[in-house]
Amino acid sequence: MMKNIGVIGAGSWGTALSKVLANNGHKVVVWSIVKEEVEMLQKNREHLDKLPGVKLPESISFTTDIKEAIEGMELIILAVPSVFTRSTSKTMAPFVKEGQIVVCVAKGIEENTLKPLAEIVAEEIPGVKAAVMCGPSHAEEVGIGLPTTVVAGAKERAVAEKIQDIFMNEVFRVYTSPDVLGMELGGSLKNVIALAAGMADGLGCGDNTKAALITRGIAEISRLAIKMGANSETLSGLTGIGDLIVTCESKHSRNRKAGMLMGQGLTMDEATKEVKMVVEGIYSAKAALALGRKYDVELPIIEEVNKVLFENKKAKDAVTDLMVRDKRSESSSLEWN
Ligand SMILES: NC(=O)c1ccc[n+]([C@@H]2O[C@H](COP(=O)([O-])OP(=O)(O)OC[C@H]3O[C@@H](n4cnc5c(N)ncnc54)[C@H](O)[C@@H]3O)[C@@H](O)[C@H]2O)c1
Repeated sequence: MMKNIGVIGAGSWGTALSKVLANNGHKVVVWSIVKEEVEMLQKNREHLDKLPGVKLPESISFTTDIKEAIEGMELIILAVPSVFTRSTSKTMAPFVKEGQIVVCVAKGIEENTLKPLAEIVAEEIPGVKAAVMCGPSHAEEVGIGLPTTVVAGAKERAVAEKIQDIFMNEVFRVYTSPDVLGMELGGSLKNVIALAAGMADGLGCGDNTKAALITRGIAEISRLAIKMGANSETLSGLTGIGDLIVTCESKHSRNRKAGMLMGQGLTMDEATKEVKMVVEGIYSAKAALALGRKYDVELPIIEEVNKVLFENKKAKDAVTDLMVRDKRSESSSLEWN
């Protein structure tokens, strides 16, 4: 059945998800704060900068009036980059009705509060039902209909299932989960490991190194997330290891790309300028380190990434320091009899 859906944010991800929704027969209103972006989308029915080549159906309309993308909407998708989640939630708040669902699809942890994004949405929009949706899903591939799986997470089962019903189709499979915190931590912390994977690529390391970073990376993310209250199964699922694999391997990952440039010798500022997009892992790296300290969890890869980003440490030295750490067993929970 046709539903009215609002999409807040017209970057790569907001645009790709709008197309999924329109293909499912829904009427979609997309809002952007950037007037020129809205005009470009109206004129070309294509996001020429962020998702070139992906034509958008007529059932999608574009606006700079945020009220039009909120009032009367069955579902509101919040797709702005994580650094704008709080400011955009504030702008949305006066128009969101009690009980309306806002699905946050950004990935990040707020640097100064260390809060995950659904919590920020709930804090800024009184009465909202905040949910999340993430998983291994690059906009470039979703935009051209390549088979993709994600997870919809919400405190209430009915909310997660509503998101699932609205988004699901034969190329976009949606699972549900009650573990919103685990999903959010997996989704945001993997960006930090992706920077490390990129650095390894830039240094000319091999597949062995990449596999090590992915495996030890998820071990690190899991230690922290479980201590914070997440479920371990979430970390071995699509929004944990799944999203980590895609971000560390994909040519579409801006975090991996920025890391690669740093591995080749560029500074953080030079690398982010070259990537020309928000590199969320840089913000999440600081937040992850602070969370590790707060919850007293060892995060060796994340610590080294921070040193490369903020203390001018050479990526090559960071790799060596990870390799020569104290000897230990692979898992502290495995014991000899
Ligand atoms: N791109 C992907 O493949 C993908 C996939 C899954 C999740 N995500 C997540 O979705 C979020 C958005 O990613 P993206 O790739 O669409 O980013 P993007 O860089 O393409 O988004 C930029 C867009 O943000 C909006 N914007 C710019 N300044 C703003 C402001 N001050 N306030 C509010 N909105 C502003 C504009 O519409 C702009 O086009 C990120 O958290 C990302 O991790 C992205």
